[in-house]
Amino acid sequence: MNLANTPGCHPGLLGGTGNASTKPPPCLRMVILAFHPARVKGPLFLFCAPFSRGRLPGEVPSGPACGAGRHVISWPQPGIQRTPMSTTQNSADWVRRLQRIMPFGSSTCSKKADHMPEAPGVIVRGQGCRVWDADGREFIDFRNALGPVTLGYRFPAVDQAIREQLERGILFGHPHPLECEVAERLCEVIPCAEQARFLKTGGEAVAACIRLARFCTGREHVIQIGYNGWLNSLAAGGRVLPGQTAASAPPGVPPSLSALHHAAGWNDLAGIEELFSALPGPVAAVVVAASYPEMAKGAEFYPALRRLTTERGALLIFDEIVTGFRVAVGGVQQHFGVVPDLAVFAKGMANGMPLAVYAGRREFMSRLDTVIVSVTHGGEALSLAAAKAAIATYENEDVIGHLWRQGEAFGAGLNRLFAAHSIPAEVQGLWPCPQMRFLPEAPDGLEDRFYRAAYRNGVSLYGVNYVNFAHQPADIAEALERLDRAGAEL
Ligand SMILES: Cc1ncc(COP(=O)(O)O)c(C=O)c1O
Repeated sequence: MNLANTPGCHPGLLGGTGNASTKPPPCLRMVILAFHPARVKGPLFLFCAPFSRGRLPGEVPSGPACGAGRHVISWPQPGIQRTPMSTTQNSADWVRRLQRIMPFGSSTCSKKADHMPEAPGVIVRGQGCRVWDADGREFIDFRNALGPVTLGYRFPAVDQAIREQLERGILFGHPHPLECEVAERLCEVIPCAEQARFLKTGGEAVAACIRLARFCTGREHVIQIGYNGWLNSLAAGGRVLPGQTAASAPPGVPPSLSALHHAAGWNDLAGIEELFSALPGPVAAVVVAASYPEMAKGAEFYPALRRLTTERGALLIFDEIVTGFRVAVGGVQQHFGVVPDLAVFAKGMANGMPLAVYAGRREFMSRLDTVIVSVTHGGEALSLAAAKAAIATYENEDVIGHLWRQGEAFGAGLNRLFAAHSIPAEVQGLWPCPQMRFLPEAPDGLEDRFYRAAYRNGVSLYGVNYVNFAHQPADIAEALERLDRAGAEL
């Protein structure tokens, strides 16, 4: 039964498969990951929600309202004026169009258009450590697609591997040899990994580890340190985005589910011990993502967590989504010499292709014969080909050493520049992923003005400024010169 076409029905969140000729549900207004139907030949997967806000500008006010008790079968529907396909080329117009068709104006919350018009509304091209927006402006880039592009945009060996695999096929109904080869390589370079399995995003891989830990321990409660992906943002007081905390159970999370998840602070061993004692049931796992500015404290914190979880019979899960292939190939577990039970790696593993791995001790991973974790695109071969080429590059070149050296050149340079321009801000943390923070004494609006001035002078910054393998000393020097001009403009 097509609920969406049922008279009087508010379908809420529906998902379904169809094809280009399938009529859309009548309430469809916002489409996440939308494809223009005229261009889509294959299956189309839509999520739609009841339309509760006012009409869009230009929308024709006639025709049936959502749930008004009429079947709507024509396409396009009467009463709904579709956003016309436009020949828009400039950034500002793209932002307007995105904001109209998509909540947040982006599928990724952290990419929402802040600091406009100085910031690029859309990026249309990248090369090495530079990106270009729709207006043709060039930026030396420290956002690195929010972390993943560790080798640089259009890294030849990775792109060539993707092209070669594309000639042979993308996805098959049986495992692909690359699935085996890349898992084997990862089990050689990740200290805790005896077995590995692939997913597409870091957050779902953390969710898989949590489910596995609950099954293996027969326990329900989970302690989380840091942001572990939206899917796992369940704890009251926990991280809902990098740098953002929910005061109570995050919107859309039932309190009963939230009650099983507990946020703890980085390096707060006493608080975590207290949680272990105070919770109404035993703890299945502690999931920990490193805090960027204070990551060095991992030298004491990780061993202490290892001891505590072992004593209490809980699994220790490292979220290495950012730290893997950046602080060290094998992440913080390699850097600090502490081996967790399970770990997740994602960004940095395939130079921007969507791939996550969850890996760990065979004793636990093997239970995935009973605990069901499965996705259609798990063995998608383009990403695996990219990962194989990226891992080989890490092996053959000193990528990690480069990230540390260039990260230091940029981070320390920024700190000097902040001092020279009396900007109350600092860069703190390990050089491959240091946090840039404005201090409490910074006047209101200074941070925004600094970002804008940086964009105006051709540097794209982020809270965590990531260097990649393409940032050469000359690029860092040029970025610092541009930022020096930015500082002078404040
Ligand atoms: C530490 C950490 N864990 C988990 C995630 C979620 O990864 P993904 O967006 O691939 O689901 C992120 C994303 O920024 C992250 O920084």
